[in-house]
Amino acid sequence: MPRVTAPSLCQRKQVGDKIAMLTAYDFPSAKLMDESGVDVILVGDSCAMAVMGRPDTLSVTMEEMLHHTRIVAAAAHRALVVADMPFLSYQVSPEDALRNAGRFVAEAGAQAVKLEGPADKFGDAIRAILRAGIPVMGHIGLTPQSVHQFGGYKVQGRDEANRQRLIEEARGLEAAGCFAVVLECMPAPLAAEITALLTIPTIGIGAGPDCDGQVLVMHDMLGLGIHTKFCKQYADLAGVMRGAFEAYVHEVKAGSFPDAEHAYQ
Ligand code: KIV
Repeated sequence: MPRVTAPSLCQRKQVGDKIAMLTAYDFPSAKLMDESGVDVILVGDSCAMAVMGRPDTLSVTMEEMLHHTRIVAAAAHRALVVADMPFLSYQVSPEDALRNAGRFVAEAGAQAVKLEGPADKFGDAIRAILRAGIPVMGHIGLTPQSVHQFGGYKVQGRDEANRQRLIEEARGLEAAGCFAVVLECMPAPLAAEITALLTIPTIGIGAGPDCDGQVLVMHDMLGLGIHTKFCKQYADLAGVMRGAFEAYVHEVKAGSFPDAEHAYQ
């Protein structure tokens, strides 16, 4: 199977072929996703909340993100691996942004990076990264690194001014050279309008069915994370895992594990 690439995702939009993206932070999950036909694996800064037990994404560091990206990149042979640039890794200066994006590619094996926010703030950072040959995915709407500015995890673009702002931000990211843009938590009709306006693919999360692709946080869709209105739960892994742990504890305490089948004679 040929590797999914940033340019090939743009071609998908032209033929109406939807893009399936999920987050992963570990080897077995990334390997299963790759084998299951997931097109894009995002090593999201959501790992702070999904696997590190932190209250938000703001504290995750470059070193932590590099560690998880290296693991995921080793597992994915077909899917495009996108590394999420953590808080303060691209906001301070375009030079910093380029150096950190370059580390994801050179040291960890990512094929693209994602950063949150509009081009009027981060256009210089995006262009610096692109000049080095690294594809950039944009991300607008509810951008979790700005949670304190939003005053919580709230649906964006509900009033006319914010609706117009998000349309301009999406256009700005396309003009800056992003190969795709994540639209997070916005009304479905607004995401549909942005999708129709852009030539690059939109990847929705809580943005309705008309985006060119969808992304979910793996732990949430497997029932191991946060319940939200937009995240369909495809499995109850928490129930499966709890059942296995309880059965193990019971059998160890009862002396029925290990039995003859699981012991060397
Ligand atoms: O970090 C993340 O998982 C993300 C997705 C929600 C798009 O940015």
